[in-house]
Amino acid sequence: MSNILEVNGLTTQFETKNGPLTVVDDVHFSLKKGEVLGIVGESGCGKSVTSLSILQLLDKHGKVSSGEVLYKNTNLVSKTEKEMRKIRGKEISMIFQDPMTSLNPVLTIGTQIGEVIEKHEKIKGTQVKQKVVELLNLVGIPRANEIFHEYPHRLSGGMKQRVMIAMAIACKPTMLIADEPTTALDVTIQAQILDLLRSLKEDLEMSILLITHDLGVVAEMCDRVVVMYAGQVVETTDTRTLLRNPRHPYTVGLIQSTPHQSKGERRLKSIVGQVPTPDEYSPGCRFVDRCPQAMDICRSTVPPLLEIEGQTACRCWLYERKEEVI
Ligand SMILES: Nc1ncnc2c1ncn2[C@@H]1O[C@H](COP(=O)(O)OP(=O)(O)O)[C@@H](O)[C@H]1O
Ligand SMILES: [Mg+2]
Repeated sequence: MSNILEVNGLTTQFETKNGPLTVVDDVHFSLKKGEVLGIVGESGCGKSVTSLSILQLLDKHGKVSSGEVLYKNTNLVSKTEKEMRKIRGKEISMIFQDPMTSLNPVLTIGTQIGEVIEKHEKIKGTQVKQKVVELLNLVGIPRANEIFHEYPHRLSGGMKQRVMIAMAIACKPTMLIADEPTTALDVTIQAQILDLLRSLKEDLEMSILLITHDLGVVAEMCDRVVVMYAGQVVETTDTRTLLRNPRHPYTVGLIQSTPHQSKGERRLKSIVGQVPTPDEYSPGCRFVDRCPQAMDICRSTVPPLLEIEGQTACRCWLYERKEEVI
């Protein structure tokens, strides 16, 4: 399978009054055609900033300071805003955790989805309306002809997320970035939205970058996973290996703190402490203060991201140094 997206050494900084803060630090991963790649990590690990960096949607204080984002072999980091506008929505779409922040409360559902279509395709009027209704049907919204004329606040959270998905897939993008798409929803609705994403992925042959803090979602959806901690990639592997044989102590902690439906009442162990902010990083491993297996070297020296075997890479001194990945 060929790579749709290659993120090489992506580093993103925010300007603060105390100088620049590096919140995404030398991140590498690739997304293959038709693949669902998960980015997982606790809140504050840099997942959203990574996805905003890919689409050049950082606010004015943020910038990609080094690295490249190769989409179909062209570097998005060097594109102008005008060029990016043609790519967003048409080639790469994004859906966010909270649909209300992305839907315009004063425009009807039909108008908003129609605008996306008109921006990228040369159709007008009834053709647009017809396409919007088709899209609403496709994402499982009942009474599509009525919903077309409704305003966002009249819909439930799950229905709003379906509208967001309709907008995202309106122009059949090659790639979808879904940032915590089900986090704000009830569990049963979460499952429905994940089912919808899975079937759309098959029908439209999309590649998906799925950002989540929830390993349950990863287990359901992803082919491969990138685990991020404090702005860095700490482990990359296929989902099966990640869940059965996690290597990084952070990944082990994440798995132990995830409820398994099949294991009933088992007590969950949470990872002690919190993700450090960029100004609190240790000079060695950023996980050292929370790691049950920390050694002396972990306090002083940054562990490199090492290939352990096959497709698995891990940033941890517990593993024998073989070949450096980056
Ligand atoms: N606009 C911003 N300005 C300054 N710092 C930011 C901004 N957005 C995010 N950050 C910081 O970047 C880090 C990563 O945030 P984020 O990518 O949102 O994490 P995640 O999505 O994994 O929860 C956090 O420490 C956060 O405080
Ligand atoms: Mg986030």
